[in-house]
Amino acid sequence: MVSVLFVCLGNICRSPTAEGVFTNMCRKQGVADSLYIDSAGTAGWHVGKAPDARAVTAAAQQDIDLSALRARQVSQDDFSSFDYILAMDEDNLADLRSMQPDGTQARVDLFLDYAPGMSVRNVPDPYYGGDDGFVQVLELVRAASAGLLTHLIARGEVTAHRD
Ligand code: 4NP
Repeated sequence: MVSVLFVCLGNICRSPTAEGVFTNMCRKQGVADSLYIDSAGTAGWHVGKAPDARAVTAAAQQDIDLSALRARQVSQDDFSSFDYILAMDEDNLADLRSMQPDGTQARVDLFLDYAPGMSVRNVPDPYYGGDDGFVQVLELVRAASAGLLTHLIARGEVTAHRD
């Protein structure tokens, strides 16, 4: 079992979108049973809340249901329970690296570094912008999700169970 935690600032826009898109992709590829997928925020402002309605709407247009997700804050325990902790932007990455306890196993990376050939490294924060920002988040997250899944399969960390 491989565990993946997606992290942004508020856990109501970008990281729940990543959780939903990646989960959906893993189900379609028949590998969902070998993964544990979650998301969290570096900040605690929105803990317990559902994703932003604009994120839910944008994902629903691609048949991805985010409505049951609830925000939580990253904890120190996450660095020992997750294999991959993937940050949406460089601020999230710096915050995660500064809170990672010594000797913990989690690999902390930028999520977009898993998208092959992509020049952008940050998923832009769509919270204070318009609806098009949420569509852009979906596009970036979809590319990085495909790259991440390819990476995990190539390393033999996940295998398909189709029986
Ligand atoms: P997220 O977006 O980090 O993608 O969930 C944000 C959500 C809320 C806030 C900022 C970014 N906020 O300032 O409340």
